[in-house]
Amino acid sequence: MPADVHLEIKNLSHSFGGLQALENINVTLQKGEIGGLIGPNGAGKTTVFNLISGFYVPSAGDIIVSGMKINGKKPHEIAAMKIGRTFQNIRLWSEMTVLDNIRISQHYRLGYNAADAFFHTKRYKRREAEIAQRAWELLEIFKLTDLAYEYPKNIPYGIQRRVEIVRALSLQPDLLLLDEPAAGLSTVDTVQLIDYVTWLHENFHLTIWMIEHQMDVIMKLCQNITVIDFGREIASGSPEEIKNDPDVIKAYLGDGQL
Ligand SMILES: Nc1ncnc2c1ncn2[C@@H]1O[C@H](COP(=O)(O)OP(=O)(O)OP(=O)(O)O)[C@@H](O)[C@H]1O
Ligand SMILES: [Mg+2]
Repeated sequence: MPADVHLEIKNLSHSFGGLQALENINVTLQKGEIGGLIGPNGAGKTTVFNLISGFYVPSAGDIIVSGMKINGKKPHEIAAMKIGRTFQNIRLWSEMTVLDNIRISQHYRLGYNAADAFFHTKRYKRREAEIAQRAWELLEIFKLTDLAYEYPKNIPYGIQRRVEIVRALSLQPDLLLLDEPAAGLSTVDTVQLIDYVTWLHENFHLTIWMIEHQMDVIMKLCQNITVIDFGREIASGSPEEIKNDPDVIKAYLGDGQL
């Protein structure tokens, strides 16, 4: 495997009981690339992300990240391997402030034990300070400082989506999976999302894989796109190739999204 391959998915299949949700999916993402994963509703896109992030164990095939096979690992182990994600349906903790939503994720990464927390050891204090500092840095970059002590339900939907991205970034991932980051966003918020993703790709040198129904977002951001339909890969290539692919056009004709 060449050194610059970040994510490799090989013959990935998954079934839920009798439903074959994915069949023999093969995708390679180079380090630093922004890739797209598209396909009609129910095609199996989120299932791919759930398999990578350890929510499900693949029925068959391999998921290889930086040369290491990760199938079967638990979600917190995957998060510790610098793989971050956001969710199609926002999953912020509603009882916590924006700041705490961002801080709490990092406890996974900067592990300390219950005794540390109870006795407030030096290690605990040092790590708490580190966590808070990183959270504030990210809040500032993403213009969320004013909302640090606000609860998610009190902030607009588009900004909740931004908080989700920041929460994923707090774990310092080098591979970021975004599941429909533009879903439900206004035109203004969508343009801003494109700017933020471009910015963090350039400045944090991330590899990003993005599921998205909004084609303008995918076409603007992605170098390579994989298209799946009914759990099978029907095309992959540059935005230009995908736009003109007859199978892709056919798959999308039903819902007129392309
Ligand atoms: N936990 C589950 N149990 C049973 N079936 C599931 C489960 N998760 C997903 N599925 C089924 O697997 C198929 C693929 O679902 P998935 O959510 O991956 O699609 P998707 O491409 O993300 O769709 P959308 O664009 O609507 O988000 C669907 O038929 C879905 O109903
Ligand atoms: Mg989905």
